Amino acid sequence: MCRHAAITGWGFCVPEKVLTNYDLEKMVDTSDEWIRTRTGIVERRIASSDQTTSSMGVIAAQRALDKAHLAAIDLDLILCATCTPDHLIPATACLIQHELGAVNAAALDINAACSGFVYALVTASQFIMSGTYDRVLIVAAETLSRFVNWQDRNTCILFGDGAGAVLLEATDQDGGLVSSVLGAQGDVGRLLTIEGGGSAKPANPDTLANGEHCIRMKGNEVFKFAVRSMGQTAKQAIDKAGLKPEDIRKVIPHQANIRIIKATQEALGIPWEKVFVNVDRYGNTSAASVPIALCEFLETEEVSPGDNLLFVAFGGGLTWGAAVVRWIDVESHISERVEGPYAI
Ligand SMILES: CC(C)(COP(=O)(O)OP(=O)(O)OC[C@H]1O[C@@H](n2cnc3c(N)ncnc32)[C@H](O)[C@@H]1OP(=O)(O)O)[C@@H](O)C(=O)NCCC(=O)NCCS
Repeated sequence: MCRHAAITGWGFCVPEKVLTNYDLEKMVDTSDEWIRTRTGIVERRIASSDQTTSSMGVIAAQRALDKAHLAAIDLDLILCATCTPDHLIPATACLIQHELGAVNAAALDINAACSGFVYALVTASQFIMSGTYDRVLIVAAETLSRFVNWQDRNTCILFGDGAGAVLLEATDQDGGLVSSVLGAQGDVGRLLTIEGGGSAKPANPDTLANGEHCIRMKGNEVFKFAVRSMGQTAKQAIDKAGLKPEDIRKVIPHQANIRIIKATQEALGIPWEKVFVNVDRYGNTSAASVPIALCEFLETEEVSPGDNLLFVAFGGGLTWGAAVVRWIDVESHISERVEGPYAI
């Protein structure tokens, strides 16, 4: 029997507070028109003072478990993809594990910035396909608003907060992760960084005064890297799956900028209707963007067993990744789970 790693649960959580472009006009020298035309973003969600990466992650995770009809104690592993963890130690995945009561699960964080969800998806799938684990929960959660310099118009207009979670399970149905491509290129040019607060630059009055605990970005260079890497990586993942772009039911790209998404669509030569977009409502939620988009896609469109979805992302690091995932018959998987080979 062939073991596949398939998506059987999903959920997301975004803060209630909405920050519009018009709100930003009152904070920095910008305009709704500039932000819309350069990025496609109209509004983004901002965490309230009592919300954290882990608290949003827990809500998204519980929704994913409910969707899959599983309890937290059934989990073998929790991976949290984040570059805005609650703390350096403990890992945010450990906090989520505790809050969920997932006492049988190992837990660790993955930091590949905005590519984090794709990295976590591929990592989780290896644990399942190798036979090590049967159920892995991926939580991709970010609170970027706490790392944004709200006086820097180059960056503060771009980011938002939120969390998305996906449950991966072992199945003998022909589906799940079909192909993947991951890549990295050390960001020696400091295109996208948060330099302060780590061991190289521990927090001190100077790092605080210099704003080194906030995101810094050379936007135009990141833009060029993104346009190049998204199209290439997406094509490589489709090739590796033995597919053609037209075989992809929906592309679910990292939601950073509508122009980057458009360039990816053009590189693939697929119709715009095949690309899921919600960057207008959430901005760039880093690792959380792909699973939030996946959840909204699944809320709005029918997916059939055998449909191929393409996830593609780029981010700080620099990192990039793409994965083709074939949808399985989730309902029959859940109903067979009670008695089948993966019975709890
Ligand atoms: C940031 C980004 C939207 C800027 O768009 P751009 O077309 O590249 O614009 P530029 O950087 O060339 O800047 C053009 C001008 O707009 C100005 N500008 C920057 N932010 C602005 C804002 N919020 N409002 C008004 N003007 C702004 C710049 O200062 C610059 O002015 P100048 O020419 O007088 O110096 C775009 O580069 C981008 O999306 N990059 C990728 C960012 C990203 O995705 N990061 C996360 C990676 S996961």
